[in-house]
Amino acid sequence: MEMRLFSVTFRTVFWRFFLFKDCAASMFSALQSKAQQIVQSLYGLDGVHISWERPQQTVFGDIATPVALQVAKRIKKHPNAIAGEIAERLSKEPSVDRAEAAGPGYVNVWLKPEVLIEELMRTREACTARDTRTEEHPVIVEYSQPNVAKPLGIHHILSTVIGQTLVNFYRHAGYPVIAWNYMGDWGTQFGKLAVAFKRWGEGKKVSECSIEELLALYVRFHDEAEQDPLLEEEARKTFVMLERGDEGVRAFWRDVVGVTKASLGHLYDRLHVKFDLDISESFYEDKMAPILEEGTKKNIFTKGEKGALIVEFSEESKLPPALVQKADEGTLYATRDLANLRYRIDTYRPERILYVVDVAQMLYFQQLFAIANLLQWKLPELQHVVVGRMRFADKKMSTRKGNILRLEEVLDEAVKRAGDLIKSRGDSIQSDDPQDLAEMMGVGAVVYGILSQNRQSELVFDWDRMLSYEGNSAPYLQYTHARARSVLRKADAGESIAFPQCIAALTEAERALVGTLQQFPHSLQEALSGHLPHHLTHYLYELCQSFNAFYNSEPILQAAEPQKTLRLALTALTATVLKCGAELLTLRVPDRM
Ligand code: ARG
Repeated sequence: MEMRLFSVTFRTVFWRFFLFKDCAASMFSALQSKAQQIVQSLYGLDGVHISWERPQQTVFGDIATPVALQVAKRIKKHPNAIAGEIAERLSKEPSVDRAEAAGPGYVNVWLKPEVLIEELMRTREACTARDTRTEEHPVIVEYSQPNVAKPLGIHHILSTVIGQTLVNFYRHAGYPVIAWNYMGDWGTQFGKLAVAFKRWGEGKKVSECSIEELLALYVRFHDEAEQDPLLEEEARKTFVMLERGDEGVRAFWRDVVGVTKASLGHLYDRLHVKFDLDISESFYEDKMAPILEEGTKKNIFTKGEKGALIVEFSEESKLPPALVQKADEGTLYATRDLANLRYRIDTYRPERILYVVDVAQMLYFQQLFAIANLLQWKLPELQHVVVGRMRFADKKMSTRKGNILRLEEVLDEAVKRAGDLIKSRGDSIQSDDPQDLAEMMGVGAVVYGILSQNRQSELVFDWDRMLSYEGNSAPYLQYTHARARSVLRKADAGESIAFPQCIAALTEAERALVGTLQQFPHSLQEALSGHLPHHLTHYLYELCQSFNAFYNSEPILQAAEPQKTLRLALTALTATVLKCGAELLTLRVPDRM
């Protein structure tokens, strides 16, 4: 009974374990093969896969393995006894301080301090971006993609910051990347806006209008069209004029695109978002005909109702038919996306294309990729990086009617709240430039609030959580970074400090911090390979907690040598990792706060 209880608690401790199997680290791979040899010599067993886990608490060692449970499946012996035998052998290894049998068949291992510290080299290396060896076969990341003539709504921030973070991850890992903003600058909305502008624009020039004024006209169109259905017809005709190249409508369209781009530029700067290309939907206007022809020739595009062109998919794919050309021969969003894909393949020969787009377009992208396959194009890896919907914890925000909630307003509100927080903290927050700190904290809070949630689920927008000074938030990360920098300033120590050669023993808090620091390369890899930034935010949150626990329990500046150097080196590495991680997430961290 007692045993069972122990085993349950023991396992819960491992609820968030960490597999070292993809860390090519010398220390772990050496121990891995050593354990394999031990199993082979003790029990004559080959090919037992030995997985190492990182216990949540240092009382269970630096690393642990359930190897005895695996062995017990193949020979008749109690797992406890097996664990004891393996532990005894492992404890004789030069890198091992101590090894013990524990739980129902685990072996817990404590490593020598110098071994643990040497391993931190990998963490330091992971903070430097790898060189991009070649410009060939880039990864194209397409994100943000706002629709022209509308201001950036708060929802657009999701694709915008998640996309930029993925760009940063890939670049940091040494991949050639093309950051691509594919704006919606084509479509019937221009017909509507042009009609509204003619009627209610008060004779102003488009280039003198603000984006808000254009949006107000667009909203008015929709209101008035409810009473007057002729408006819709007029808008449709105006869009056809645009498609046919009518000079007046074209000029209007160009001006609207200009106003939109100018207003976006400022916002993107504030968010540290930067694109290599902004080739938008309109670019593909003259590139669709050959694709329609190809699809028709290959019998993939067939005539549907009233002469529209459609694509039907195989039964097992369960996809409903897709439309690629309207009955009036007008083209569609999907037609432009096919031309876009063809162009990307021909021009850049990418290895992979990521479309960072709202979950509402899931079916659409399945159809798009299926059409490309039916056309038998030689395709790069295509992925719709799904972004969940946003829900507001704050009732006032979610019930706001009429105009969409503008991103700029939200950022301004966040900066204001951050400013209030700084003031309310009085002397406990110090900054040479409180306005800049508020901007860093406010914008950071909103961005971090998004990136710290799994993008595949519903994302909750919650002021309290975002601006929390103690929780999984940007201010906490920024504060912890400033705290580490302040220690280093007081010690007159620079960015990087060498670890001491010889350390006899580590305290619990030191050991825990070392363990957390070691996980950085793995967390980064996990966030990149799954395209899941929240793995990195969670890691950084853990590092902050681990560092603060260390800071609160160990004297640093007052410690005797070599402990003092060790602690300063740990502090410096923490600051470096926090800064590197934050910047990958598009955030800034202050040196003082
Ligand atoms: N502009 C589109 C929208 O707001 C998103 C574009 C997504 N990307 C694409 N290649 N279709 O709905």
